[in-house]
Amino acid sequence: MSIEQLSEWLKVSQNTVVLTGAGMSTESGIPDFRSASGWWQNIDPRTVATVEALERNYPLFHEFYKMRIENLEKVAPHEGHEILAEWERQGLISLVATQNVDGFHQLAGSQNVEELHGSIRTIRCHRCGKRAEMAAFLQKQSCSCSGKLRPNVVLFGENLPQASWKKVIDSIEEADLVVVIGTSLEVYPVNQLPSMTNGKTVYINLDTAKQVIQFDLIIKGKVKEVLEQVII
Ligand code: OAD
Repeated sequence: MSIEQLSEWLKVSQNTVVLTGAGMSTESGIPDFRSASGWWQNIDPRTVATVEALERNYPLFHEFYKMRIENLEKVAPHEGHEILAEWERQGLISLVATQNVDGFHQLAGSQNVEELHGSIRTIRCHRCGKRAEMAAFLQKQSCSCSGKLRPNVVLFGENLPQASWKKVIDSIEEADLVVVIGTSLEVYPVNQLPSMTNGKTVYINLDTAKQVIQFDLIIKGKVKEVLEQVII
């Protein structure tokens, strides 16, 4: 019933924005952060995902991101990512805004993607900002300025990429449908986005119990299964 409602809204919406989180990629084999099997159950994010961690405990920071980067070789986007790309080609969605750093939306064919937490697939120097090769990061080399190399992700304590953030806010404000997929919405400021639209809001997630934001429609389920059932 509720999936039919989503289908109807998608068909009539002139401007649909999709917002995704780590739950979008768990069915590809990438753990999320806050589920029972998520990263933050075993690792304190302050020790690996902050500017302080990078600057004061580089070996652990490096190990964590190296592991995540190397894991990407073994996994691939799933049908859910492909369905979103197909919807974009059909003109059903105008933008995918994602907190994910895996690049799977683009790999699956989505063109209009804003990576609000950056990307784990490119590397820069933390000190001078110069771009560096992935191999140099994996081998724990330093920049020519002797700065530490790091992935282009947003760490806790850093600002979101401002151009992307502004574009997403503008799109959400204009949207008449916002579909939020696979995120706990615990992390600021992305968790503010669903409240910024005047359009309809839909939440697709496995765990819907903790949600404090009001949605017009909540679909409890696995991303891939839910998206595969949407008939356009
Ligand atoms: P979380 O791990 O906080 O939330 C993922 C949500 O997806 C949970 O509510 C799960 O129940 C749900 N989920 C998992 N697998 C699913 C599936 N197959 N189908 C449907 N739902 C599923 O991840 P995010 O909300 O993305 O940031 O986390 C936000 C940010 O916190 C991340 O970008 C990362 C993290 O710390 C930084 O590191 C800066």
